Amino acid sequence: MTKAVVVLDFGSQYSQLIVRRIRELGVYAELFPYDATETSFAHLDPGAFILSGGPASVFEANAPILPPFLLLANIPILGICYGMQLLAFAYGGEVKPVGHGEYGGTTFHPGVHELFYGLPDAIRVWMSHGDRVESMPSGFRAIGHTDCSPIAAMVDAQDRIYGLQFHPEVEHTSFGREILKNFIFHVANLSVGWTPVRFLESLTEEIRLKVGTQRVLCALSGGVDSTVTAFLLHKAIPEQVTCLFVDTGLLRSGEVQEVEQALGQAGIHVKTIPAAAEFFRGLERVEDPERKREIVGRLFIRIFQREAKKIGHFQFLAQGTIYPDVVESRGKERLRSDKIKTHHNVGGLPDIMPFKLIEPLRYLFKDEVRRLGVLLEVPESILQRQPFPGPGLAVRIVGEITEERVALLQKADAIFREELQGLSDLPSQFFAVLLPVKAVGVAGDKRSYGSVIALRAVSTQDFMTADWTAIPLELLARISRRITNEIRSVTRVVYDITSKPPATIEWE
Ligand code: XMP
Repeated sequence: MTKAVVVLDFGSQYSQLIVRRIRELGVYAELFPYDATETSFAHLDPGAFILSGGPASVFEANAPILPPFLLLANIPILGICYGMQLLAFAYGGEVKPVGHGEYGGTTFHPGVHELFYGLPDAIRVWMSHGDRVESMPSGFRAIGHTDCSPIAAMVDAQDRIYGLQFHPEVEHTSFGREILKNFIFHVANLSVGWTPVRFLESLTEEIRLKVGTQRVLCALSGGVDSTVTAFLLHKAIPEQVTCLFVDTGLLRSGEVQEVEQALGQAGIHVKTIPAAAEFFRGLERVEDPERKREIVGRLFIRIFQREAKKIGHFQFLAQGTIYPDVVESRGKERLRSDKIKTHHNVGGLPDIMPFKLIEPLRYLFKDEVRRLGVLLEVPESILQRQPFPGPGLAVRIVGEITEERVALLQKADAIFREELQGLSDLPSQFFAVLLPVKAVGVAGDKRSYGSVIALRAVSTQDFMTADWTAIPLELLARISRRITNEIRSVTRVVYDITSKPPATIEWE
């Protein structure tokens, strides 16, 4: 087991980013809630701890506290922002409100210390704090300051416990990567052990150990994660995997064939269940988006269970759960956030199924999954897929869902996707939506009364917020012409120019 970094999450919006940055350095890191016990990371050999920032103030009644095991640890610790204040507070220093706080970019002057090796005398850093360390615990010394914080960086007498008032993990901090690199390789003396090739080897080994001679059923959704999971299982235990793909009838045009072909070419056996009729029946006359999600989810589970039973004799169910899903569901158990919509994922099957679960990608970020996919020779067309909602086109048809309306939307969506492929910089997500209104048109001197298609394209980093994409007008004009010419029942095409917020990316 190579050494890893345990990152403790005190609620900062940048916690996952810390993990990413460490992994980018070639060292494995994982995020845990601040009150996790040591048993939760018993599968790792921690070489350093990093404490994230967080919105709390150490004076608040229920403020997150320092986990007791940290006081006994004798490996390097780095506290960032709230993490630094907490370390100062726990070791007997003094923390005070700054008054007006310090938010945004500011200039930091690093002292002479190996943590700041290779840095100039002054760097721009990103601050976001209302409290600061006023006096340090005994034995600690300041190793950097800003105009507003005389103690913007500190270290203990053994050069083991570090605090930074700013965020080295964000892009806005110049030399942030160098600081983390110095902490990982010079302070903690860790070595590079996290490369996709090595990880692929250890993943396949783990799968073989876990599964033994038993059989695995893999739930395919057509997306990147479940496809990479299927390829990975096939590499590890080729004779013991069967993939099940439920064709809900709500997928994009050509998607079923594309998935079957990609897996077929790799010699992976896929059993596709044609279930469109069942889904259309279940969704008849349903217009409410949340009910659509619920019905698609329920039907998917029922059909999956039924078909799994028919195939018979499987001990494991494989799913393409990835790291952000794991962190998000951990977060959901702890924090209540306002429900905008239920993100139903058809890959997510209930625990009551009579299988043991295997989720080989559960510690990977999306781009790491893609890199693993490249090693596994998953076709590029699948690896570069944009996200697609679990309930599929059901939430892109506003109003009632019928076979005809799905077919119409699939055609319009295919034209939109095909035309956009010519763009050098593709939007993060783009698709067509069928609206529940009709509009008057004129064709061959005759009045017509047909459907309205809305086009949506957004650019985003994390899909939490998004900007509408300014597609060149000539291209929009061409797409509109093609849609109305090639689908005679469409009389109007509109372009959605709303960002998120206030809109969401999907229309439902
Ligand atoms: P919204 O519409 O909430 O979408 O701004 C954010 C991202 O999530 C996708 N999305 C879903 N994904 N099940 C999913 O697996 C769902 O029910 C669902 N609804 C939205 C959406 O496509 C976008 O990428």
